[in-house]
Amino acid sequence: MKVYLGIDVGTTSIKALAVDASGKVAGSFSHPLSLLAPHPAWAEQDPESWWEGVMSLLRAVPKDMKVERIGLSGQMHTLVPLDKDGKVLRNAILWCDQRTASECEAATRELGGEERVIELTGNPIYPGFTLPKILWLRNQEPEIYGKMATCLIAKDFVAYRLTGEMGSDHSDASGSAMYDVIGRKWNTSLLGALKIDPKLLPPLQSSFEVRGRLRKDLAQQLDWDAAEVVAGGADNAVSALGVGVCQEGDCMVSIGTSGTVLGIAKGGTLPDKSGKLHFFNHAAPDVSYHMGVMLAAASSLNWFKDKMGRDFSWPQVEAGIAAAPIGADGLLWLPYLQGERTPHRDPNARGVLFGLSAMTNEMRVFRAVMEGITYGLRDSFELLKEQTAIRRVLVVGGGAKNAEWRKMLAGNMKVPVAVPVIDEGGAYGAAMLAAMGGGADLTMVKNWVKESSVTEPNETNYAEYDAVYEQFKALYVDLKPRFDAVAALNTRKR
Ligand code: XUL
Repeated sequence: MKVYLGIDVGTTSIKALAVDASGKVAGSFSHPLSLLAPHPAWAEQDPESWWEGVMSLLRAVPKDMKVERIGLSGQMHTLVPLDKDGKVLRNAILWCDQRTASECEAATRELGGEERVIELTGNPIYPGFTLPKILWLRNQEPEIYGKMATCLIAKDFVAYRLTGEMGSDHSDASGSAMYDVIGRKWNTSLLGALKIDPKLLPPLQSSFEVRGRLRKDLAQQLDWDAAEVVAGGADNAVSALGVGVCQEGDCMVSIGTSGTVLGIAKGGTLPDKSGKLHFFNHAAPDVSYHMGVMLAAASSLNWFKDKMGRDFSWPQVEAGIAAAPIGADGLLWLPYLQGERTPHRDPNARGVLFGLSAMTNEMRVFRAVMEGITYGLRDSFELLKEQTAIRRVLVVGGGAKNAEWRKMLAGNMKVPVAVPVIDEGGAYGAAMLAAMGGGADLTMVKNWVKESSVTEPNETNYAEYDAVYEQFKALYVDLKPRFDAVAALNTRKR
């Protein structure tokens, strides 16, 4: 059977999906990844662990499947520094790493202030983006910086290992803070002002363009034909493609390790001047999108379950959350375990459980945590509504499987919340890109997408959710000076 293979290089796992020409999933393979956190709010991974993972998945593809073309998707913003021979120089610094606050400030100043940066790149410089990590390397690890010949983003490193060709695509370049989203090119004047050699950056392609063929030695090792590999794209963009979110009015909310709220931009839209929402190019041709990002979404619920809910099964936790009242009797959760990106852009923010009493039980805490994540997503949704009208939301990721969570989202976003039949994240969209690399057009692959259920918002809950949401927002404002003071204290200690 001929298949397209979509590979997603995620944060907690690498996933591969074999998909046939009608969009049916013929095989699904996954490999776990671990995260290295050498300091609080740092996040690294060894790129070799991605490569081992990818190879183990390729070996798992059954022999009766003939892989026609491979598509890629991956975690955004990640810096993979390579030397002149293409060797990895240090661990990759990930999207959720918060070490570069001072580099962001210095570069923004150097470039003439935030408004100018948004004009140049479509976005402010965020601590998780690629540029400040390059500057951090120059400041803190000059020896490695001196040896660096190329910087790649996660899926581009995998494409390089698969084909021997270096490159990136417009959706991933969008999140680098070195790319002009409107002009669709690396911003050489920005690079010049910051004295970064443009040769460090690979050539750009559209997400569905062919990067190259599978290296001969790999094809031999796997006993495959030398399948083509397409450029692929940023996980959020590719996931949105995978659930058909490509047109104005479409919105995807993803509740995974990170939480994202992605809405297709109106044609000719300019970036959000406040810089709160990201403005990136899509993996679908000629489309751009706005997006808000929560750095710790389902991961903060998992964190609580690991720390204090080990005695409960997930179905018990889910039933407990559904039975608890809206507002969890005054408990609030600020989901900032990794600092926060949208809307606060605050590496110093931390998780807070507020309102504990002698009556608090685990299920109230779980309810508060799920609501806190939902209010964080709502923060981005409210900003998105200022940019474009949203008719409905498609929810994906681990959180989408929970019916109570879908009700909570609908009650807060006040629009219907739908679930796709195939929710396989970037891997499914990557398989679509692989099909497009062979000539399939967007309409054809969009026909692969079907919806399974729609949750209508329950208007009777609006007032209660609105009231708790106001408290959630106010709690961050009240605590902001404390977050900064405690962060300053800890920096002095290090
Ligand atoms: C998006 C972002 C995350 C990662 C997760 O800007 O940082 O969603 O892409 O893989």
